[in-house]
Amino acid sequence: MPNIDKFIIGFDHALRTLLTPAQTLRPVPGTELPEIELNDSEKSESTALMRVNHVGEICAQALYQGQALTARNTEVQHTLTQAAREETEHLAWTERRIAELSGRKSLLNPLWYGGSFAIGALAGMLGDKWNLGFLAETERQVEVHLAGHLKRLPRQDRKSRAIVAQMQVDEAGHATAAMSHGGAELPVPVKLAMKLGSKVMTKTAYWV
Ligand SMILES: [Fe+2]
Ligand SMILES: [Fe+2]
Repeated sequence: MPNIDKFIIGFDHALRTLLTPAQTLRPVPGTELPEIELNDSEKSESTALMRVNHVGEICAQALYQGQALTARNTEVQHTLTQAAREETEHLAWTERRIAELSGRKSLLNPLWYGGSFAIGALAGMLGDKWNLGFLAETERQVEVHLAGHLKRLPRQDRKSRAIVAQMQVDEAGHATAAMSHGGAELPVPVKLAMKLGSKVMTKTAYWV
């Protein structure tokens, strides 16, 4: 496809991600669970953590879009598109949970999207093995981050916990798929820089 077409599709995707509700094919995890009344501090903790997770999924959308734009191999593009579909579901689930908790999404979503898109496009430009290696490392870090959230989320907020638990399973699958398609292990300083970047994002999105 000519690059200009890819850019137009990418721009359209960005607007849809930021402005319209995401769709999910799978049912939202925990739908069958009862909504248990949370006290004010539990509710605000759940809302803040789900906002952070929603931002993570906005970033995932942008990263995948950026990577798919510059990935060379069609099989790699296919892997990215497949995982991106599940990321769209994660986006829908977290968005819905924030609404159920009467919370709000991050005000900085356009900024998160733009920054992640640029990083994804850069990773894609470095070639498929680094692109996939970057993807795998991102997914592994997200998986660890979600495990941390499962410790922090109020015990009785089983609905949020069910969403985060399923996301954790999916992200592990994305990491495995990326490595099995030839992803390279990233140098340690790059991994550390990625950890630092995501720390800034998660700390900010907790509040804003
Ligand atoms: Fe995700
Ligand atoms: Fe993922």
